[in-house]
Amino acid sequence: MSETALITGASKGIGREFAVLFAERKCDLVLVARSADQLEELKEALSEKHGVHVHTIVKDLAAPNAVNELFREVKALGVDVDYVVNNAGFGDHGAFVDTQWERYEEMIALNVEVLTHLSHLYARDWAGRKRGRIVNISSTAAFQPGPMMAVYFATKAYVLHLSEALNHELRREGITVTTLCPGPTRTHFLEDSGMKAARLVKNVKVATPRAVAKLGFKAMMKGKPVAIHGAMNKVAPFAIRFLPRKWVTRLSAKVMGRSKEFL
Ligand SMILES: NC(=O)c1ccc[n+]([C@@H]2O[C@H](COP(=O)([O-])OP(=O)(O)OC[C@H]3O[C@@H](n4cnc5c(N)ncnc54)[C@H](OP(=O)(O)O)[C@@H]3O)[C@@H](O)[C@H]2O)c1
Repeated sequence: MSETALITGASKGIGREFAVLFAERKCDLVLVARSADQLEELKEALSEKHGVHVHTIVKDLAAPNAVNELFREVKALGVDVDYVVNNAGFGDHGAFVDTQWERYEEMIALNVEVLTHLSHLYARDWAGRKRGRIVNISSTAAFQPGPMMAVYFATKAYVLHLSEALNHELRREGITVTTLCPGPTRTHFLEDSGMKAARLVKNVKVATPRAVAKLGFKAMMKGKPVAIHGAMNKVAPFAIRFLPRKWVTRLSAKVMGRSKEFL
């Protein structure tokens, strides 16, 4: 019997690449995002090339009650979900006080609440099945505070901590929760978040979304707790454990500051 993956934020970037990877392994899909055209185009391409069933659900997940609606709509489709990819998320580069509260409200709703609620709904739904895999997209931002992107970094730290704890708790139910931590990745995110202005992006190798999704996919299938993309990105969280937290924040502020050409 074929399996089904539910992917949030599947219209582009890392989420889109997850959809391709699942389709290549003949897994049916439920793709969720706001961009109807992009979802439809991906649906046609994947069903034609790989012969998989693809459902699209156009939804603003940050809207009130969107997650309950999504869960009900997926049930109404009559598909059983085996994999959940909690990928939809966004960030905003800039001083804390310069960003409108509504933007943060939406960010916390999408990066934190939606991911938590969907994990909760499916973990309960899967009780007794002894299987089910979740991958939650965090970031290398999860490992330290991030001045100039303080709220985004904090949301990703939440994702890491929540997912590690859930992976521990749910293992006895046969459910695994993998946290994927990408570093800077060439997607719309870098443009939309304004992160292109940060020194960090000027000074590191930017990954492709395909490479990041591949790492996450493999880690998820093996039931690994955490996957960090990029050799340097793996070293940093380990190295900073030995530094005073104040230094770590200062260092982070330096790399998150605007590079010269954006000043
Ligand atoms: N790119 C990076 O450098 C990087 C680094 C670390 C972590 N990440 C994380 O990776 C994840 C994927 O980001 P990406 O880099 O692939 O960025 P992206 O190309 O901008 O993709 C973001 C996806 O989320 C969807 N989305 C955004 N707001 C939504 C909403 N309100 N409701 C439903 N869907 C929504 C977007 O679709 P629509 O616009 O069609 O709704 C899109 O499919 C995010 O959680 C991000 O924080 C990215």
